Amino acid sequence: IMLSFLGIISVIAYLNYWLLIPTFLLAIVFVYFRRFYLATARDIKRLEGITRSPVFTHLSATLQGLTTIRAFKAQQAFISDFDQYQDVHSSAWFLFLCTTRWFGICLDWISCLYIAIVTYSFLGMTDTLGGDIGLAISSAMMLSGMFQWGVRQSAEVENQMTSVERVIEFSKLKPEPPLTTEKDEELKEGWPNSGSVEFVDVSLQYDVNQPPVLKKLTFTIKSGEKIGIVGRTGAGKSSLISCLFRLTEPSGRILIDGVDVRQLGLHTLRKKLSIIPQDPTLFSGTFRKNLDPFSEHQDDELWHALEEVQLKEAVQETGAGLEHILSEGGSNLSVGQKQLLCLARAILSHNPILLMDEATANVDPKTDEMIQRTIREKFVSCTVLTVAHRLHTIVDSDRVMVMSRGHLREFDSPHTLLQDPNSIFSELVSQTGASTAAHLRKLALAAHNRHGLLLQQQDSQQKQHEKDAEPRPLQLSIPNTKNFTPLQVSRTDENSQDVLCQKDDHLQKIGNSTINVVSDPLDKSSFSVEEEKSFKVDEEVVAAASNKSLSSPSVIVSNSESISDQSSSSSSTQKIVDQEESISAATILERSRTCSNDHIHNNDETQEIEYDTRF
Ligand SMILES: Nc1ncnc2c1ncn2[C@@H]1O[C@H](COP(=O)(O)OP(=O)(O)OP(=O)(O)O)[C@@H](O)[C@H]1O
Ligand SMILES: [Mg+2]
Repeated sequence: IMLSFLGIISVIAYLNYWLLIPTFLLAIVFVYFRRFYLATARDIKRLEGITRSPVFTHLSATLQGLTTIRAFKAQQAFISDFDQYQDVHSSAWFLFLCTTRWFGICLDWISCLYIAIVTYSFLGMTDTLGGDIGLAISSAMMLSGMFQWGVRQSAEVENQMTSVERVIEFSKLKPEPPLTTEKDEELKEGWPNSGSVEFVDVSLQYDVNQPPVLKKLTFTIKSGEKIGIVGRTGAGKSSLISCLFRLTEPSGRILIDGVDVRQLGLHTLRKKLSIIPQDPTLFSGTFRKNLDPFSEHQDDELWHALEEVQLKEAVQETGAGLEHILSEGGSNLSVGQKQLLCLARAILSHNPILLMDEATANVDPKTDEMIQRTIREKFVSCTVLTVAHRLHTIVDSDRVMVMSRGHLREFDSPHTLLQDPNSIFSELVSQTGASTAAHLRKLALAAHNRHGLLLQQQDSQQKQHEKDAEPRPLQLSIPNTKNFTPLQVSRTDENSQDVLCQKDDHLQKIGNSTINVVSDPLDKSSFSVEEEKSFKVDEEVVAAASNKSLSSPSVIVSNSESISDQSSSSSSTQKIVDQEESISAATILERSRTCSNDHIHNNDETQEIEYDTRF
């Protein structure tokens, strides 16, 4: 282009160098007009771009909600909305076309003027060849055409740059926090394993110009607790759930199992939480892809999860099974089915925290009950946060969180909250009507009693567990004798293998345990062996004992609690070795170890085992 441009200029200059003056004037006028035109056209183009977006948005929203629009016979309203959006866009587009045409006409007129100047410049020149004049005029026409084309294209480029401008604007938006961080590597394997959640002064603001929607929330949820979240529309319930996923970055600290979630990468955090949203978004793809997006599970696991949520039959009926294709947003599934799919996904992910944002608001009572039952069974040890407007969904929770305008107003067990007639929760329950309120109160009371019993049970189980974990002292009892030699006594339990035996007339320890003879066997009919911090043997007692001759060869090893009645216990003892039979120390040790194991595993406090220790 540049070469042909220079060629044309040279030809004109060669034929009539005076023509260079209007040529340069032409260039200057074109540049001036271009600048003048662009000042307006750029803004009009921007306006056209802005008014075009609502047309597309309205069109896609209408297509998505076509059934609803038809159901409400709102076609006309949507058509007039569409016309309105289109009118606004058309007016902007029309303005743009007008400016472009005006610019084109102006360029054409200027070009015509230039060609006229070139043509008439040859009028007085008699010695010029007609061919040269023709060449000059055609070159001038080409030149003006090139100028026009160049100016129009450069103006068009600048207009189209408004689109780039918008893209740059988007690219300047604050990016999301990192998807992975160094803290992820430091996390313990299996985090979060208990699922406790702690909010410390958590506030959330969607827009810096708007007031916060969550205001300094501070609370703790213990692992495994079932929490109901209630409150009026706009109270901040969904915002609280989105806080945990860091969809919008909150201020304050959110700790899950003691780890501040703000230090974690978004991928790590979001993978560890399961959610059943009110309006689940599914991907267009297969059932399998939606159930197991990262391909981490076997087919039978997927089928099992579908069976758990009673979706197996529905999936089988499609014919293609797990390969059945879901359309955009899962629109070929009902809302309830989509939620069940999310539930199956949650079951598969085995996360200890489950969040449900009005998960059962759109399903029939039977499916709701089924979902609740599945959650109770499958997520029994998980921490479950349930946002619900239907109070019966959360009235049997461990605790209920009542939100109001971003504040946490009440947080206690439903029954306790209902005891106070002035509580917001009581008010919400009362608003459901007399009979429903009475039913809800009954459910809350039943849940309260159940939890009380459960807590008692857990408490006693815990105590029992602690008791079992304690090393139980074993007792050696000598049936009514003062003369014996504690030659070999063995003890084996789950924690250690302790063997106490006599060697060279001394008690010695074999194994890891420390055992101490605590009472004098010569004065009592029984003495006990207990675990102590250090291994101590009353050597005097042992020495004295070993000098005596053994009149009764039996030594009974048992749990100390069981030897309350020596005479009765000796009658129930199990004779292992005949009294007259002499056996080697190794045999006794081996047998006693086996018997002690039996004793511990049976954990039967009345069982006692008798050993022959005769030498
Ligand atoms: N994406 C958002 N951008 C800006 N403001 C928002 C956004 N989402 C929610 N809000 C505002 O935050 C406040 C709390 O909304 P939120 O959705 O948490 O309420 P909610 O308790 O879940 O209500 P509902 O019971 O109707 O679901 C509302 O005032 C709402 O206008
Ligand atoms: Mg909500």
